[in-house]
Amino acid sequence: MFEKLKAHGQEHLVRFWDELSETQHTALAEQIERIDFPQIAHLFAERDQANEVVELVDRAGEPAAMRLGDQKNRFSPESACRRGAEALAGGRVAVLLVAGGQGTRLGFEHPKGMFPIGPVSRCPIFQIHLEKVVATARRYGASVPVYLMVSPATERETRRFFAENANFGLPETDLRVFCQGTMPAIDDRTGKILLAERGQIALSPDGHGGALAALQASGALAELAERGIEQVFYFQVDNPLVEVCSPEFLGYHLLARSELTSQVIAKQDPKDRVGNVVEVDGRLRVIEYSDLPDSVAERRRADGSLQIWAGSIAVHVFELAFLLRMSGRADALPFHVAHKRVPFLDEQGRAHQPEKPNAYKFEQFIFDLLPAAANALVVEVDPKTHFAPLKNAPGAADDTPESVRAQIVALHADWLRRAGAEVADGTPVEISPLFALDAEQLRERIAPGTRISQPIYFRP
Ligand code: UTP
Repeated sequence: MFEKLKAHGQEHLVRFWDELSETQHTALAEQIERIDFPQIAHLFAERDQANEVVELVDRAGEPAAMRLGDQKNRFSPESACRRGAEALAGGRVAVLLVAGGQGTRLGFEHPKGMFPIGPVSRCPIFQIHLEKVVATARRYGASVPVYLMVSPATERETRRFFAENANFGLPETDLRVFCQGTMPAIDDRTGKILLAERGQIALSPDGHGGALAALQASGALAELAERGIEQVFYFQVDNPLVEVCSPEFLGYHLLARSELTSQVIAKQDPKDRVGNVVEVDGRLRVIEYSDLPDSVAERRRADGSLQIWAGSIAVHVFELAFLLRMSGRADALPFHVAHKRVPFLDEQGRAHQPEKPNAYKFEQFIFDLLPAAANALVVEVDPKTHFAPLKNAPGAADDTPESVRAQIVALHADWLRRAGAEVADGTPVEISPLFALDAEQLRERIAPGTRISQPIYFRP
């Protein structure tokens, strides 16, 4: 092992070897074993080019899209709903929920899915997502298996939390938890891998794109195929408003014979901080807001609307066949480089908490599969009803627990009013997905004229 480390200029990783216990030796040796040193050297050498998209940006145009409420759309919402419902009733749809992130900005000391987001119930985000799956499976009379991706940062607590909560009603046979890989952080000046502790490399999850490799390595991909799954509904743990397994969204994907379909929202401002879905040379791809020059972001059509309009909200449907095909390709997903503050041990073994970025971290993004997908398509949704990301700590400017709760309340108050209830302005209301999955179902369960002026949580 020492020779290998030396050959790659990384022998400092075992500097404190003699001070470690046998268990620590084994753990450190395992971490070292898993590192692809030539890959790390390559990523460091290419760090300035890694996020380079300049020549693509010039050719960026509008993606194939289903626009919200547009009469000229290729397919009607009704035909899409029918088609999506068929796939669900046939048991051909699975859920891929990614929850391996470290949630650093939120500053919550547990996995983000455990955050008590319910505006009235204070139920955790996981419960909202899982109840949607359970309710969907009931509605269509077929199971909807959940593949939950965790990381070494979230695995232990997440598994325990699911066990303590009886998987939030999901049958054990319909839940598969699998762990994503990690990547080491490297010193931004020297390219040397950082030590977090004497026997511990500074590792972090390898991005939500790590799902592709982890699905394969864990055997989950093969299992999905054996179960007869054809479509995989992907979403991220931090958005409690996701319409999990939306039949309409699934339906557009199926009608268009798309291999990868993504939900987007119409950007309000040219520089909105979302990934931009664009078409380049007949293929869809995402260009991050940080890579989009102002001149391109501000391009407008004749009617004044933005040309680069589609902001990704990280909800996708994948054809399983597409995932199987891409998982066999070593270069399926590039690594993105991020300059971050990473705590580390120096040569003398002193711990540092840097004040400014000192290291590079490497992550894969799942949306980088878009250019390889046939007939890829975007579907526009309303951000008010579909997108409430929990990113930041209470008190921050946006994407906070307060803003997310307010959006849940606004949506559920709207459903109640559409069902004929009178909801006093500003009253916190919340509806469990097991009580009603949508406004139509709620209408069957609420007596018209019901008056609500106290906080209330509807659940069966
Ligand atoms: P973000 O990139 O927003 O990261 O992840 P995060 O962990 O939520 O928060 P910060 O940036 O540390 O503050 C978006 C989604 O992708 C998942 C997260 O769990 C979240 O659902 N994710 C991210 C993973 O599953 N694995 C990763 O390696 C990174």
